[in-house]
Amino acid sequence: MNQRPHGGPSGVLAAQVVAWQAVHGRNSLPWQNTQDPYRVWLSEIMLQQTQVATVVGYFARFLDALPTVQDLADATLDEVLGLWSGLGYYSRARNLHRCAQDVVRLHGGAFPRSATMLQTLPGIGRSTAAAISSLCFGERVAILDANVKRVVTRVLGFDGDLALAAQERQLWDAATDLLPHPDVAAQTMARYTQGMMDLGATVCLPKKPLCLLCPLQSDCRAQADGDPQRYPVRTRKLKRSSQSIWLLWAQSPDGAVWLSARPTPGVWAGLQCFPLFDTEADLWSAVQQPLTTALQPQDTFVHVLTHKDLHLHPWVLTLDSRADLGALGGQWVAADQWPAMGLPAPIRKLLSRT
Ligand code: ADE
Ligand code: SF4
Repeated sequence: MNQRPHGGPSGVLAAQVVAWQAVHGRNSLPWQNTQDPYRVWLSEIMLQQTQVATVVGYFARFLDALPTVQDLADATLDEVLGLWSGLGYYSRARNLHRCAQDVVRLHGGAFPRSATMLQTLPGIGRSTAAAISSLCFGERVAILDANVKRVVTRVLGFDGDLALAAQERQLWDAATDLLPHPDVAAQTMARYTQGMMDLGATVCLPKKPLCLLCPLQSDCRAQADGDPQRYPVRTRKLKRSSQSIWLLWAQSPDGAVWLSARPTPGVWAGLQCFPLFDTEADLWSAVQQPLTTALQPQDTFVHVLTHKDLHLHPWVLTLDSRADLGALGGQWVAADQWPAMGLPAPIRKLLSRT
């Protein structure tokens, strides 16, 4: 690795980030201008895999329905999944619910005030814990999400391979060295954390970083060397797999559809879904003999998950009454009920087309 430029433990670089954030950063998002850890935590979890523009609406609806951590802890998992429906990555919603229950049960309804303690809660990793404790409580701890990794590796010219745990640890140490000076940390940490996120999201972009607009331009090793895009360095590629799934889409004349809860663990765990099968033959043998004449194949489509491409093969089963499909597990759900339920995005999309 190249040697570190100036900045470092003196906090010079951090002061530049803080000054820049006040003028050029994002300061009026709905989860800002509050020190309420419930709101900050909820927004950080939503923002982990979802864009700001999408999160804004979900955040407002979620808080409207469940304004406090106690309300969330008391809600049913179905209600939480319903509020999450369409955001994807539903393990986030299940962890959110468990986390709220732990905050109430283990911490008397108040979020712990240190990143170390926050990290013991479900769904809160090291970076999210640091985001909450620095934004809400001014704790001097580093965040290191994908956006901030880009900023830090570029500024420092850190070319260690982040596929290696030892290099990842070194980067955490380096990010900690860059934090505001301890004497000013309490007053500046919230703005510093937000500033690093904002730099990564709006200036230090993956493909074409806007170095001319960057407060760290004159201290940035990658910019000096002329090739910021080579950072961060990570050798191991995600192994993608693909899977085919057959869906039984049973409809009754009154518009009801047959749904059953997906088992945990597995794809779409806990969500309400059409019965799923690994092969076309399995789907056919699950439908009772005289009804198979009512089976109609639909267009196949691909749904992309983090590590997997799902090739989905829907078959519509058009019935002339709410036939007993109890052998499949699940129940009939009326046309005015499924929209509020937690459904996988592709299932919702299919149902919305009709
Ligand atoms: N992404 C993660 N946390 C964020 C925040 N606090 N503001 C904007 N984008 C974010
Ligand atoms: Fe990123 Fe360019 Fe700023 Fe360096 S100068 S941190 S590469 S935007």
